[in-house]
Amino acid sequence: MPVITCIDDLKRLHKRRTPKMFYDYAESGSYTEQTFRENTTDFAQIRLNQKVAVDLTGRSTAGPMLGENRAMPVALAPVGLTGMQRADGEIKAAKAAEKFGVPYTLSTMSVCSIEDVAEHTSAPFWFQIYTLTDDDYNRRVLERARAAGCSALVITVDLQLLGQRHKDLKNGLTTPPKLTPAVLADLATKWRWGLEMLQTKRRFFGNIVGHVEMEGDTSSLAAWTAAKFDQRLDWDRIKHLMDMWGGKVILKGILNPEDAELAAATGADAIVVSNHGGRQLDGALSSLRVLPSIVQAVGNKTEVWMDSGIRSGQDVLKALALGAKGVMIGRAYIHGLGAMGEPGVTRALEVIQKELDTTMALCGETTPAALGRHNLLVPKDFFDSYS
Ligand SMILES: Cc1cc2nc3c(=O)[nH]c(=O)nc-3n(C[C@H](O)[C@H](O)[C@H](O)COP(=O)(O)O)c2cc1C
Repeated sequence: MPVITCIDDLKRLHKRRTPKMFYDYAESGSYTEQTFRENTTDFAQIRLNQKVAVDLTGRSTAGPMLGENRAMPVALAPVGLTGMQRADGEIKAAKAAEKFGVPYTLSTMSVCSIEDVAEHTSAPFWFQIYTLTDDDYNRRVLERARAAGCSALVITVDLQLLGQRHKDLKNGLTTPPKLTPAVLADLATKWRWGLEMLQTKRRFFGNIVGHVEMEGDTSSLAAWTAAKFDQRLDWDRIKHLMDMWGGKVILKGILNPEDAELAAATGADAIVVSNHGGRQLDGALSSLRVLPSIVQAVGNKTEVWMDSGIRSGQDVLKALALGAKGVMIGRAYIHGLGAMGEPGVTRALEVIQKELDTTMALCGETTPAALGRHNLLVPKDFFDSYS
């Protein structure tokens, strides 16, 4: 196994071992990718405050999410087409998360179905819903998630329509890929990916193909979203969905205090400050920059988490120190999966946990709960430079 010291090592292997179409799908943002870039560059602007001569024994990275103690307060975010980064990718990622002791979220747009993941895991996972115009489908998919033992519903509120990612259009992204000469030439250098893919039957949108009538191209994410995603999704419909689910709910995709107030008023158990990893509204601020204003607005009404841009344990620490009670990671574990399958996801989690532990210690802290603004050095006006 190659020596992996950081998430960037996994990213390089991911790029080398995965068809260009799917690596590009993961590693891109919408339009100019400004928000995608700033999600990571904003993390780099915040510095850490060293604290010495503290007893560091008995440290732990553990922390609760939705009231359940986890190895660290880090969940795997829902990522569409995970099963195209590696064959059976959702099953592999869910198994790695379960063994590590962190939550896994399955996307509506996954390749492996809810039932596939449930069959291969024993810990309950979370299900992320994109609502379709077909209300019957929405009701049935919630029933399937409930039957599979999913312990929380993640409702993503920032994707009623798809942000344009230029590379996906240029690459002709589909699942499974169409075997054009360019795709075949690329696959010739990704033989391991191809061999594994030949051994699985899971190559379609497992949660929806066969569960919804669709004319035309059932292999294209862009076609599905344009044809079927529910653009009527407003707070009333979100509330209705929450009532239909009847269990724990996480609202993902909040970027300002006004929406956070409305989200908290629904009674959601947690909200995720997120710009969808820079894949939706290009030009939106990074999640990190808006996090403190949202914590201040609703931090006493619901659990506030964040995602978008986390690539290290230092980043996790910065988010927690700014008031997030937990975080989600997307690309950081997808790079692990694309690089090495299930062991790669485990390695990504190990890297992040070790970085979190070491950085916490060098900041003079022994638990995530003790982290706060005192651990950070933030450029003047960092949070107030846009209004
Ligand atoms: C390739 C890819 C696919 C994604 N698909 C979904 C999805 O199906 N549902 C969803 O709610 N979010 C989706 N997201 C957003 C992630 O859940 C998460 O918000 C984002 O990845 C966080 O940013 P990060 O990748 O910088 O950690 C996707 C992100 C990526 C990178």
